[in-house]
Amino acid sequence: MTFRSPIFRKLLASAFLLIAVTLVVLDFYLTRYTAAREVQSVQQRLEAEARILETEAAAVPLPELEDWARQASQRTGARVTIVDPKGLALADSHHDPESMENHATRPEIVAAYQQGVGNSTRHSATINRDLCYMALRVTYNGEPGYILRLAVPLEGVDSSLAAIRWRIVWASLYAALVALIFAYFFSQSFTQRIARLRVFAEGLVGAHFSQAELPPADDELGALGRSLSTTAVQLRDLVDRVSVESAQREAILASMVEGVLAVDSSLRITFANDSFARAVGGLNPIPAKMPLVEVVRAPELRELLAGVLGTGQSVKKRMQLPAAERVFEVQAAPLTSGSARGAIAILHDITDLERLERIRRDFVANVSHELRTPLTAIRGYTETLLEGALEDQENNRRFLEIIKAHAIRLNNIASDLLTLSGLEGAGKARPDPEPVSVRGAIESAMRTLEAEARLRGVSLGCGRMEDLQVLGDRLQIEQALVNLLDNAVKFNRPSGEVLLEVTRVGEGRVKITLTDTGIGIPYEDLPRIFERFYRVDKARSREVGGTGLGLSIVKHVIERMNGTVSVESQLGKGSTFTLILPAAA
Ligand SMILES: Nc1ncnc2c1ncn2[C@@H]1O[C@H](COP(=O)(O)OP(=O)(O)O)[C@@H](O)[C@H]1O
Ligand SMILES: [Mg+2]
Repeated sequence: MTFRSPIFRKLLASAFLLIAVTLVVLDFYLTRYTAAREVQSVQQRLEAEARILETEAAAVPLPELEDWARQASQRTGARVTIVDPKGLALADSHHDPESMENHATRPEIVAAYQQGVGNSTRHSATINRDLCYMALRVTYNGEPGYILRLAVPLEGVDSSLAAIRWRIVWASLYAALVALIFAYFFSQSFTQRIARLRVFAEGLVGAHFSQAELPPADDELGALGRSLSTTAVQLRDLVDRVSVESAQREAILASMVEGVLAVDSSLRITFANDSFARAVGGLNPIPAKMPLVEVVRAPELRELLAGVLGTGQSVKKRMQLPAAERVFEVQAAPLTSGSARGAIAILHDITDLERLERIRRDFVANVSHELRTPLTAIRGYTETLLEGALEDQENNRRFLEIIKAHAIRLNNIASDLLTLSGLEGAGKARPDPEPVSVRGAIESAMRTLEAEARLRGVSLGCGRMEDLQVLGDRLQIEQALVNLLDNAVKFNRPSGEVLLEVTRVGEGRVKITLTDTGIGIPYEDLPRIFERFYRVDKARSREVGGTGLGLSIVKHVIERMNGTVSVESQLGKGSTFTLILPAAA
């Protein structure tokens, strides 16, 4: 395990390198030092021997000098040479002096001439060996300036160097062994510490922070451990903060009325809130990473998001999701963070808005249509009059009557519309509800309709009349009652009847019923008669000066007072309208 560790191998290699370099340097210096010491001791021995031979040689006559040199060589074990002051060899123990060249330039001899003693170590080509020379200036036959030179081969130096080398090799082996042991233990503790740091560092990004404390140390690894610990604390803070923030964001998104959907680049859902799940009607909650195609069957939304992913442009589009049968305005935008790409869509439910818009459009169309009929009639009859009918004594009066009737109709429509818009007027402060006597309002309404009823032969009558008060606006209650009575009279048969009753129902509620013996209303039209401009029989309504707005005004007025209006009817027999209003305490 340890041996395979790269750190161990590097440590070992550097230890070996260090040892090798040290040993090479050591070997170099030790060899030089030993050699120098050896040479020095040889020179000292040679000088001592030369000093002894010096006195002997001084008395030897020249012809015997050769023999003496050989004897002296045998005694000392050195080559003995005698050179005269000019550098010529006079005698030599190993060579014929005649054949020897002039020695005046040899370094040891030059030094001896000058200082009395000279040393030199040279390689001798003659015997192919390193030789140590020692020259001494001597006096021969009473004449100074002669040189006595001794030379020995440096064999002892080589052998003592070999011995030193062996010691160095052994010492290196021991050192290497010790280095190995040290490297082993050091790298083991080192790798263990690094492994601990690694575990700690990996713990920082994991789901749970490692709780383990790093052991304190003074070296670089210790410093690394300390900065990792500080980072861990900061990281923990950061993660806490981010998770709180994301929880907040998720709570906001989850509680939004708008549907929110986020997808990744392959159209898989990365986020969808409850509103979105409800809008597409399927799984709730939608599992993350689910392909959008499995959640939304309508291709429109997918195509929209694919387009946003492709172009990177925000898009806004109205679409209907079949599941919810509701209309949404979808705002889609690209979502990029780092290298991740995706898209987000916000679904705004505009079904109610659409419906209101349609109602408004229909209303405008209806109003225009309603206005066109009287206007066309007025214009037609006016033109007829202008083109000569004015002189037509028989018809001109009739035409003017028709024009007047249509003008009245226009006036009725205009005033009904004004009433309606006054009731709907947003922001208009409603008058504070006040106690209104029901009987008073009914009597006032009946007075308004008396003449008309008499004209049509319809009798107005009161049944059970409790003296009660309701909370509301007196004029508006009267208006509602007039509209209902008007219908009951207009859509009645000759010598028909209208009956009014007031009773208390339940806690704090007052019921007003209007029963007529009129033509009745077909069952299928009942739900629609409170709509604006809705008339069962247009011709008849117009004939009696109706606008189709009366009942919608009633409904509005009563509902504004927290009341309700309902109708029961039998075709050909009559209808009953019922108002329920809150009673004044
Ligand atoms: N008492 C009733 N008897 C029969 N039909 C009625 C009665 N009240 C209302 N209607 C029907 O409901 C329609 C809508 O009434 P309303 O809104 O008051 O308009 P109009 O201007 O025609 O009176 C009338 O055209 C009529 O067809
Ligand atoms: Mg009416």
